[in-house]
Amino acid sequence: MIKAAQQVLQHIFGYPSFRGPQQDVIETLLKGDDALVLMPTGGGKSLCYQVPALVLDGCGVVVSPLIALMQDQVTALEQLGVKAAYLNSTLNPVQVQNIEESLLRGELDLLYVAPERLKQPRTINLLHQSKLALFAIDEAHCVSQWGHDFRSDYLQLGMLHEMFPSVPRVALTATADERTRKEIIARLGLEQSQQYIAGFDRPNIQYRITLKQNAKQQLLRFIHNEHPNDAGIVYCLSRKKVENIAAWLAEQGYTALPYHAGLSADIRATHQTRFLQEDGVIIVATVAFGMGIDKPDVRFVAHIDLPKSIEAYYQETGRAGRDGEPANAWMAYGLQDVIKLRQMLEGSEANVEHKHAERHKLDAMLGLCEITSCRRHVLLNYFGESANEKCGNCDTCLNPVDTWDGTEAAQKAISCAYRTEQRFGVNHLIDVLRGANTERIRQFNHQQVSTYDVGKELDVNQWRSVYRQLVARGYLQVDIESFGALKLTEVCRGLLRGEERIQLRRDVAEKAERKKSPANGMKSADNKLWEALRACRKELAQEQGVPPYVIFHDTTLMDMVTYLPETLEQMSRLNGVGESKLGKYGETFLGVIRDTQVSSRGHGSLSDTVAQTYELLCDGKSLEDVVKLRDLASTTVHQHGAVLIKLGMLALAKIVSLSEKDVSLIKSTMLELGVDSERSPLKPVFEALAEQFEYPVLSCVRADLLLELDR
Ligand SMILES: Nc1ncnc2c1ncn2[C@@H]1O[C@H](COP(=O)(O)OP(=O)(O)OP(=O)(O)O)[C@@H](O)[C@H]1O
Ligand SMILES: [Mg+2]
Ligand SMILES: [Zn+2]
Repeated sequence: MIKAAQQVLQHIFGYPSFRGPQQDVIETLLKGDDALVLMPTGGGKSLCYQVPALVLDGCGVVVSPLIALMQDQVTALEQLGVKAAYLNSTLNPVQVQNIEESLLRGELDLLYVAPERLKQPRTINLLHQSKLALFAIDEAHCVSQWGHDFRSDYLQLGMLHEMFPSVPRVALTATADERTRKEIIARLGLEQSQQYIAGFDRPNIQYRITLKQNAKQQLLRFIHNEHPNDAGIVYCLSRKKVENIAAWLAEQGYTALPYHAGLSADIRATHQTRFLQEDGVIIVATVAFGMGIDKPDVRFVAHIDLPKSIEAYYQETGRAGRDGEPANAWMAYGLQDVIKLRQMLEGSEANVEHKHAERHKLDAMLGLCEITSCRRHVLLNYFGESANEKCGNCDTCLNPVDTWDGTEAAQKAISCAYRTEQRFGVNHLIDVLRGANTERIRQFNHQQVSTYDVGKELDVNQWRSVYRQLVARGYLQVDIESFGALKLTEVCRGLLRGEERIQLRRDVAEKAERKKSPANGMKSADNKLWEALRACRKELAQEQGVPPYVIFHDTTLMDMVTYLPETLEQMSRLNGVGESKLGKYGETFLGVIRDTQVSSRGHGSLSDTVAQTYELLCDGKSLEDVVKLRDLASTTVHQHGAVLIKLGMLALAKIVSLSEKDVSLIKSTMLELGVDSERSPLKPVFEALAEQFEYPVLSCVRADLLLELDR
């Protein structure tokens, strides 16, 4: 039977081999046994039940908590030619009846059901009359009250075992901890099941935690340098900040949409759909966003506020790079985050035991931020997994952090809090240490304390770094009653008495990283084909109203660029091309490859100098870089840019950073003034726009406009 499973994998899904424990899980289910599967986000849990449902007689019933998730999965399965459907509250009675009838006739391979629907007698009856292949309980942690997504309807799922004793069951989750796992087993009656636990590592995600200085500008630089055209998620703590950051990114010319629980259901649904269906949308969200989002090509997850626990951090960052291609988990973190979260925690109404647990989790999270060794190592250890000392794909591995003996500085910092009666916050303490002459210092007569003016050797930022590390490591504690005053804790003693030394992290400003996208490092001709394939995919997706990745994943398009298939047979060997998609889209994409290949040979017509600029821009260099590297005038390089835009080889946004609003303002002015060829003068436009935009910029926009008019 495993042969049959292999065939399904290759012919239907278009994948050459199983991943991790998939094959073992599938074998277990094919034998008729139950299984519990723990695999990380994006690890490939769906195939564990989809493949056996296709191999076995009868229909696989999948319990899934989110309606959006069901729709996504069914859409994707339909593209593969699999007969799949869902039953949930979005359907009208006629639709429900149609699906019920096809199930009874044995026409369905997979049926997705919401848990509240499953427990209804009508549904149970229906299932009793149908031939069933298996039950899959997806997102099984929803059955656990300790988990973070408890659903009372999940509790009823324990009954499936008694009602359908001969139908194998598989429960699947990405939630790691022991307690949740035990609860799933107990509540679903899976004591006899085989357990499959995959590692939690997501090697393609690069973890980076950087010192927060000006979070907004840092975020912008990160997106601008590394992900200018990519889809991503930015997490913030408050709704207000979500709105603010989304609006600001939009002003900078990005498609950024807010998402939080305070927005109407309509708006949330629209924004989520745009995120899934359009290319390069950035969602700015509170933690309310993301569960079950099955978008494979999210290239970055950015945190500009600290998550409350490592579990949350792992889950949220896990939404990046589900397709296995390089992705970034980037976070900016600073003293204020530590103080704010400590305050929130102490101020919460929760009971003592709960608070204790939360404090523990926050400490672990802060520990992850402050460590000077490998982030991934700590992350995996936290989930009980051993790992290499160095992963080579996190900030501390890539740019090792210096430490320094901070014993003396720490002693000064702590005594300063003590001498000023533990009643003041960081800013004032630093003023005292650095001997400032402020109103407050005079008011409290703090020139007289022994720590006044003893800390000139460090600047304000360095002192902030010392205090942050002392708070994060629990030497100092934030007093919420007195507005963030720092108080000493028991642990200080050894340090103050000189019995203990302390190593501190030497904070450095973040270095700019190179762009890490699938298209990164492509030669120019490849890049052109890549863009052409993406455009073709987008068009097909729009025609059908489905997300582009449902047609083909980026990985499949990358394969096309690498292998340049010329026949359907060659195309069928690529990752992610099954029979159904080969039939539907094979010829179309072969056509794109053929046409683009022919026309790129024609690009010999590009002058050498423009071609050189093009190579550099495709390499991820900015226009300014090219100006410097080639020692050319900025105007000249802009001219090259205009040529490339006009040829459709580069997007306008690659060359000039203008907001969408500005671009459309310039274009409409040009249209009004009758700009219709490369020879149309720009002076009237320059003047009509009050000399706001430089000529080189205008000439690039003109090129883009002409390209549009051409089409
Ligand atoms: N054997 C395989 N070969 C190639 N790609 C695979 C394989 N198995 C799964 N994938 C791909 O991996 C991606 C993630 O799979 P899936 O949606 O099943 O993740 P998941 O484990 O359910 O994650 P989540 O916890 O977020 O729901 C999918 O895009 C899928 O096509
Ligand atoms: Mg899943
Ligand atoms: Zn590392």
